[in-house]
Amino acid sequence: MLDVTDDASVANAASAVAAEWGRLDVLINNAGIADDQLPPQEVTAAKVREVYETNVFGVVRVIHGFLPLLTAAENPAIINVGSESGSFASVANPDDPRFKSNGLVYGSSKAALSMLTLQYAKA
Ligand SMILES: NC(=O)c1ccc[n+]([C@@H]2O[C@H](COP(=O)([O-])OP(=O)(O)OC[C@H]3O[C@@H](n4cnc5c(N)ncnc54)[C@H](OP(=O)(O)O)[C@@H]3O)[C@@H](O)[C@H]2O)c1
Repeated sequence: MLDVTDDASVANAASAVAAEWGRLDVLINNAGIADDQLPPQEVTAAKVREVYETNVFGVVRVIHGFLPLLTAAENPAIINVGSESGSFASVANPDDPRFKSNGLVYGSSKAALSMLTLQYAKA
């Protein structure tokens, strides 16, 4: 089973795909975790890191690990599964239900993912 928080696990998965197919046409980064929505004043860096390890660093780890296989494909694509909770437009809109929700950890991870996606797309 692939664990996106683990370098060796990602490397093993990439090796398995390389051995079987030699390329990867589509990478979908769907793995994501939520948090326990503690009040912001109780959120520690460790709590944030735990969620970012999957939702943000995990995506970078998997993309980096599978890049040689993606570049071996004719027309590769990467799809990152984001969230409306990471949308500045939604969370800042008083008429949106997400306006009142506590998205300090999860929402910020998905906002970071959006910018990662944009930057990877430009690259
Ligand atoms: N549900 C929503 O309302 C909603 C809304 C917007 C966006 N999303 C996003 O949609 C995606 C899927 O969410 P979901 O609602 O389907 O949640 P889910 O049912 O909890 O599924 C999450 C998936 O991520 C996998 N996963 C978690 N940590 C992992 C890790 N370290 N390595 C590899 N896989 C890992 C889980 O695998 P295991 O089952 O093996 O743990 C599970 O298959 C997430 O990125 C989430 O943020 C969900």
